[in-house]
Amino acid sequence: MNFKKKILCIGAGYVGGPTMAMIARKCPDYKITVVDINAARIAAWNGPEIPIYEPGLEEVVRQQRNKNLFFSTDVDAGIREADIIFVAVNTPTKSFGEGAGKAADLQYWEKTARQILANSGKGKIIVEKSTLPVRTAEAMERILNSNDKGLHFEVLSNPEFLAEGTAIADLENPDRVLIGSRETPEGLKARQEVVDIYAHWVPRKNIIESNVWSAELSKLVANAFLAQRVSSINSISALCEKTEADVGEVAYAIGTDSRIGPKFLKASVGFGGSCFQKDILNLVYICQSYGLTEVADYWESVVKLNQWQQQRFVQTILSSLFNTVAGKRIALLGFAFKADTGDTRESPAITVARGLAEEHAQVVVSDPKAVPQAKIDLKDLGTFVEFEVDPYKACEGAHAVAILTEWKQYKDLDFDRILASMQAPAFLFDGRNILDHKALFDKGFNVFAIGKTPLSHF
Ligand code: NAD
Ligand code: UDX
Repeated sequence: MNFKKKILCIGAGYVGGPTMAMIARKCPDYKITVVDINAARIAAWNGPEIPIYEPGLEEVVRQQRNKNLFFSTDVDAGIREADIIFVAVNTPTKSFGEGAGKAADLQYWEKTARQILANSGKGKIIVEKSTLPVRTAEAMERILNSNDKGLHFEVLSNPEFLAEGTAIADLENPDRVLIGSRETPEGLKARQEVVDIYAHWVPRKNIIESNVWSAELSKLVANAFLAQRVSSINSISALCEKTEADVGEVAYAIGTDSRIGPKFLKASVGFGGSCFQKDILNLVYICQSYGLTEVADYWESVVKLNQWQQQRFVQTILSSLFNTVAGKRIALLGFAFKADTGDTRESPAITVARGLAEEHAQVVVSDPKAVPQAKIDLKDLGTFVEFEVDPYKACEGAHAVAILTEWKQYKDLDFDRILASMQAPAFLFDGRNILDHKALFDKGFNVFAIGKTPLSHF
């Protein structure tokens, strides 16, 4: 088949895989190739079990694969034939040197730029899909356009706003697509080519155009604002626990104000995921490097509050269990950073499991999708941790059960059966506020939820 354009995506992860699958589905006239240096990941994309759990994704991949959607490890060949290259490689927090612990580690990014240049016989449109510090496109342009082949590259920013667990719905029906380019004739022409891709299915009014720096910065700011709402309500959850206010009622009362809105006001054990903390720290580092100390401190407090909220949850378990958990079996229901994903990156469950293991508890980790990854995340905890997919088995003989991920199936568990199999007195800690606390208290549990008065039998 003759394709209108050839699109390449470098990086076949949580962003590259789903976004390109959706573009392939919506743009049958484009050939989409997704490449990665991780051969096992590519083999999985080509095999019967795709490498990430995301509702609805497998079906889209199966429909398009080998029609106009291809997965390959041959990065160089992919670059050679592409007209437009999306770059969706990982941009983790730097763990060494200047900016360690805050700045974005751009080593994968820069390697990609050099590889694009080495394999290009013609100029191309390069699209930043990864989340990057503002003005990264400038650095990329410098590397790409300092060639002696007379090639010209336009670097655009098209940040991704999908959330894991709802990626397919988010991609199919995005609130907006943001495309930033230079405002030169070449930049605007390249911008139009990227607009044309999304215009296959996204209403034109939902495609926002801007300059490159605004697009890059908007991605960091969107995540910072979302995370800030979670930290704000979590800060109030601590006050509710002291005052007999109920954080759910407070969130509802304030969220009905249309200026505030109801979303991202769910108090929890803390936010996790690969993006929020990383992107805020990146923003903090950028502000610090421009000497904007007050701005940096403001945003850093969002992350600090989140770390405190996770530690506070461990402290609540410890103090409720008579200040010792040593040798006590504690079942953690949920290990993924949110429901409907197997992703555990920065999951609050990691902090909780580690905090309890430090106190020599016998931690049992259960999750419908994330147990294989949990085993990797906690492998250094040795005999302090065990793994059990079946929640009922995980709770058998436990002194306490803690809900750490809002998986729907946990709401429907048979808690009479769980209570009967546990040690007495039985404790339940709801880190996601998904259970009926009064009903569980009436059954005999001592119930501790986030931002609510504890329901204790003594
Ligand atoms: P990921 O780790 O799942 O995937 C990145 C992939 O890039 C990996 O498979 C890795 O092997 C590959 N890679 C790295 N260097 C490469 C190279 N030189 N050549 C080819 N492949 C290479 O990461 P992700 O979650 O998909 O995130 C990617 C980017 O998108 C990050 O910047 C992230 O901040 C951003 N983002 C993520 C989400 C999300 O929900 N996960 C949402 C929006 C934006
Ligand atoms: C986030 C952004 O939502 C998305 O736009 C961006 O592209 C990537 O980062 P993601 O991390 O996949 O997406 O999930 P999200 O739904 O934002 O949840 C992040 C964390 O916050 C989860 O741990 C979730 O449980 C927690 N959360 C979210 C709360 O604790 N309370 C809330 O009200 C909302």
